[in-house]
Amino acid sequence: MRTIFAASLAAATLAGRVLAHSPVPVDADDVPVKRRKTLGFGPVHPHATFKQVRQESLAGFAPAPASVEVRDPVEVATEFVRAHLGEETGFVVRKDSYTDRATGVTHVYVRQVVNGIEVADGDINVNVKDGKVFSYGDSFYRGPAPSMYSTAVAPQPHADYCTQLEYQMDVEQTNFEQWLASAEQGEQVQLVRRQFRESVHEPLKRLHSMNCAFVDLPADMAHKSTAAALEDPRHALLQFMVAATPSEEVVQDILAKYDQHLAGMRSTFEAHLVGDLQTMVEVIDNVPDAVNPVKAKLAYIQVPEGGKTVLDLVWKFEVEMKDNWYEAAVSAKAPHRIVSVVDWASDSPFSPVPKEPVERKMATYNVFAWGINDPSVGNRSIEKETYDAIASPLGWHSLPYANDPAESDYMRATKGIKNSTTTWGNNVFAHEDWEGRNAWMYNYRPDAGESMNFNFTYEPKLTNSTDALEEAQKYINATVTQLFYTSNMVHDLYYRYGFDEVSGNFQQHNFGRGGEEGDAVIANAQDGSGYNNANFMTPPDGQNGRCRMYLWNTAMPYRDGDLEAGIVIHELSHGLSTRLTGGPANSGCLGWGESGGMGEGWGDFLATTIRSNKNYSDYAMGAWAANRPQGIRNYVYSLNETVNPSTYKTLDKPGYWGVHAIGEVWAEILWVVSQRLIAKHGYTETLFPPAPLENGTIPEGDFYRPQEYTATGEKKPLVPKHGNSLIVQLVLNGMKLQQCRPSFFDARDAIIQADQVLTGGENYCELWKGFSARGLGPDARVEGRTPWGGGIRTDDYALPKTCLEDVA
Ligand SMILES: *[C@@H]1O[C@H](CO)[C@@H](O)[C@H](O)[C@H]1NC(C)=O
Ligand SMILES: *[C@@H]1O[C@H](CO)[C@@H](O)[C@H](O)[C@H]1NC(C)=O
Ligand SMILES: *[C@@H]1O[C@H](CO)[C@@H](O)[C@H](O)[C@H]1NC(C)=O
Ligand SMILES: *[C@@H]1O[C@H](CO)[C@@H](O)[C@H](O)[C@H]1NC(C)=O
Ligand SMILES: *[C@@H]1O[C@H](CO)[C@@H](O)[C@H](O)[C@H]1NC(C)=O
Ligand SMILES: *[C@@H]1O[C@H](CO)[C@@H](O)[C@H](O)[C@H]1NC(C)=O
Ligand SMILES: *[C@@H]1O[C@H](CO)[C@@H](O)[C@H](O)[C@H]1NC(C)=O
Ligand SMILES: *[C@@H]1O[C@H](CO)[C@@H](O)[C@H](O)[C@H]1NC(C)=O
Repeated sequence: MRTIFAASLAAATLAGRVLAHSPVPVDADDVPVKRRKTLGFGPVHPHATFKQVRQESLAGFAPAPASVEVRDPVEVATEFVRAHLGEETGFVVRKDSYTDRATGVTHVYVRQVVNGIEVADGDINVNVKDGKVFSYGDSFYRGPAPSMYSTAVAPQPHADYCTQLEYQMDVEQTNFEQWLASAEQGEQVQLVRRQFRESVHEPLKRLHSMNCAFVDLPADMAHKSTAAALEDPRHALLQFMVAATPSEEVVQDILAKYDQHLAGMRSTFEAHLVGDLQTMVEVIDNVPDAVNPVKAKLAYIQVPEGGKTVLDLVWKFEVEMKDNWYEAAVSAKAPHRIVSVVDWASDSPFSPVPKEPVERKMATYNVFAWGINDPSVGNRSIEKETYDAIASPLGWHSLPYANDPAESDYMRATKGIKNSTTTWGNNVFAHEDWEGRNAWMYNYRPDAGESMNFNFTYEPKLTNSTDALEEAQKYINATVTQLFYTSNMVHDLYYRYGFDEVSGNFQQHNFGRGGEEGDAVIANAQDGSGYNNANFMTPPDGQNGRCRMYLWNTAMPYRDGDLEAGIVIHELSHGLSTRLTGGPANSGCLGWGESGGMGEGWGDFLATTIRSNKNYSDYAMGAWAANRPQGIRNYVYSLNETVNPSTYKTLDKPGYWGVHAIGEVWAEILWVVSQRLIAKHGYTETLFPPAPLENGTIPEGDFYRPQEYTATGEKKPLVPKHGNSLIVQLVLNGMKLQQCRPSFFDARDAIIQADQVLTGGENYCELWKGFSARGLGPDARVEGRTPWGGGIRTDDYALPKTCLEDVA
């Protein structure tokens, strides 16, 4: 029996390893693993770069003399791209480009166009300030344009891709055997063996057979279509569904009733604009195992072939399934190879200020207050609806009727503001999802009534295992309240560091401040579709993010992930990093390998930073929910190299192929970097910037350094005064600067550059010292990088020359 992609190269969930649902609490390592299945892979782009230009222009951003008019940044970027590329390459400026209000940096996203068709992975992001380009990332295709309608031959197999896969399979096997031979007594050999099998061996094998051998494919699927395929995406789509569905029954059904499925799928067409380019999107109904109609459009994608990169014509699909939301590229011509897949779902296990203050009754919540990571470190208390007036002008429970998806058309046509007495608002819709279904709108939500006092009991009792689930469901009111509270706090916090409407945040209503709206986070508490994990789906700006939190059967009574702030923050941070990297409309930039790993790492780092306090301490991730002191990662986050020995080179080890393990290394590196900045700038007890004054001015308070002005009297961006707030700012600004599919090097460089932009580079040496301490110094190298994070890495502990004198 064929199974397809049972596990993923990038198992995108909270935890890399999760426990099967078992009625008795068990130790994580002794039970069979049940995972959400997910795919994630794509071609490597050796030619992709992230470059800094004109470093001198960054120092404090000496602005152009007042007499010189600063030019339109989009024009500047367009001119730069044209000069940079030469005349022959076509491109469009994407409309999700934006100017960062705080830093004044304009992030311009450019998409390559060949033969009037988008190159799906041909992106240039240009960062412009004061009329000058200071950095850019570039993954444009540089070869000759393919002839579009040549149907003479099906494309050659992607020989390089397949050879590379075979080579990689050998390398992994050898690595693993070496590790086995050297493993010490007591090491978790069984666990690593299983990880290797599930995360490396089997996915590589299936990827290979799916894409290179074609041994299992029914003849009609592999060879049916030729030229017609360019007008008909259905064959390619069915081929993808066979690979993507987690259900063997669905596979068998598609194979048995192929023609029936083909005939059942109906298409409608929508014209979409990408910049100035009109593209046709086919919306296909009745796709087996998809929960919504699938969007399809023709695009090119870059694949390695014969030592070069060539363009393959693909169908680019957006497929929403129960547990996955895929963006997939499948060759348009038969045989329909799956060229790349990004799952917008990521698991975790592991402006102007409104004139009118909100007048309705403010809510109160009985919750674990912000900063209390979980029930083991504090008790609940009554907290106010401490919404941030800039981030949530209407508070957390109000939104215009017009933007409320649960309202009737009649009400949506009215102008008023709806004030809910439940966990329903502009940023977050929180509710139970015991049945683990996709439907969410009418799920149960606690209702505090007119009092707006969300004061519900949380008194889980020790029961036998049969009753444990029911016991947890008794405090659903409290847990949904907690999820709503934490998620709104995260929304407001990230907003103040620049994750706002134009950069793609999650809100139903955007207050006329730009960006796509209608995309609050749908937050499911006690989701019945799993245990011992959590996950987040991030579609492009304008579509709701979806957060699913699970119960953990790791202890009695069961533990509820909604009550562990670190897990909620980790999940919501997927939305942050995915929307900021490569632009709000591109959710395909953190799909696998190092970039997918950093998608996990940012979440752990931000969760750990938020829970930390003035007295330094090491922290574990998910320790309470998982009921193990070391948490759900290999190591706790620590400055101590004995306690956490991770360095850049750690990524070469067996067991570091999943995105969570990669992310753990990145989070550890950032943790070390952050402590450098804290040592230099001190620590602030609150990460929340002060509220604005009545006239809209943001006071410096003790939070920001004194406002500085340029020579022409304009305000410079406010700079957080303390180390912990500064690193959060630099990390977010770095996400905006880096290109699509960044490596560790790119993300490191982007953070250093973010400091150039914000402070004129005054922390240049501190940042390098932090990165170098964990092997990510200027001469760190990787050879033979693969899409899933493979390659041989070399640590560098040195510093740039300019930092040498103050090493002592
Ligand atoms: C909701 O509260 C706002 C004040 O914040 C008020 O202006 C609005 O009329 C209220 N909506 C309804 C339907 O009562
Ligand atoms: C919670 O409160 C109880 C009773 O006041 C106290 O015994 C316990 O130590 C507190 N728990 C934590 C984690 O602070
Ligand atoms: C919350 O509920 C508890 C128990 O029902 C009650 O003792 C307490 O006074 C309530 N607090 C508020 C602020 O309503
Ligand atoms: C579990 O406890 C409930 C009562 O709390 C009881 O009705 C049930 O029989 C018990 N089940 C087992 C398997 O012991
Ligand atoms: C949740 O709260 C409502 C009152 O708002 C109450 O009627 C209901 O019984 C509570 N649910 C549970 C499971 O305690
Ligand atoms: C930090 O440690 C000091 C001294 O032990 C203690 O007084 C203080 O309460 C601690 N602060 C926090 C936030 O834990
Ligand atoms: C680091 O941790 C190890 C093991 O816990 C301990 O022996 C050592 O003293 C620690 N080093 C420092 C500098 O704290
Ligand atoms: C806003 O008000 C503060 C304090 O009243 C004042 O210092 C500041 O200059 C005002 N800013 C503007 C732009 O009016």
